[in-house]
Amino acid sequence: MKIALPAPALAGPVSLEQSLYIRRCRRDFSALPLGLQEISQLAWAAQGITSDMEQRTCPSAGALYPLELLVIAGNVQDLETGVYRYAPNTHALLMTARGDVRAALAERGRMQSLVQNAAAVILLTAIYGRTTGKYGQRGIRYVHMEAGHAAQNVCLQAAALGLGTVMVGAFDDDGVREVLNLAPDEAPLYILPVGR
Ligand SMILES: Cc1cc2nc3c(=O)[nH]c(=O)nc-3n(C[C@H](O)[C@H](O)[C@H](O)COP(=O)(O)O)c2cc1C
Repeated sequence: MKIALPAPALAGPVSLEQSLYIRRCRRDFSALPLGLQEISQLAWAAQGITSDMEQRTCPSAGALYPLELLVIAGNVQDLETGVYRYAPNTHALLMTARGDVRAALAERGRMQSLVQNAAAVILLTAIYGRTTGKYGQRGIRYVHMEAGHAAQNVCLQAAALGLGTVMVGAFDDDGVREVLNLAPDEAPLYILPVGR
């Protein structure tokens, strides 16, 4: 199932400087839902297309784009609970699994309960081969740098939207792979629970 996302805003009331100043990792989320416009904005901030040559908000070594962005929707208005993959080319979400997997992700991924309480969870994964095919072993370094770029875009965008997020690096890779049914060549790198 394909969900067309609303177009991202290209301007907003909070400046980049203010976003940098107010950004903080937030771990306590209310039970209030996120909106589809907010999911659109966060996905676009991380990996949205911003040029005719299909370059993105996030820099990428050799423009090879090894990162994938998954949205685990638990409490998002106008979005069925489930797991989705962001398609930058069409600015859409493609559903890969139905149902609320937040509790399974928190448990099998051995993460703090904050993942369970977030309205949505953004997962950045990497397909290393896209970059190591050109750059060899050094490409692994590039992929990790790119995950940092993308994650920072998400947390600054979240700050600008008045949302809370936290960067989660401590999780069980195999558990996350299993819950989200990732292919063997796709590695989970960074998890960002988002909520109000
Ligand atoms: C690579 C990385 C991994 C992190 N992993 C976790 C994590 O697993 N769980 C968590 O609660 N916070 C995690 N954090 C968030 C840090 O604890 C947080 O950034 C730090 O306490 C500074 O607070 P601030 O981000 O609000 O300024 C991580 C941050 C980074 C950069």
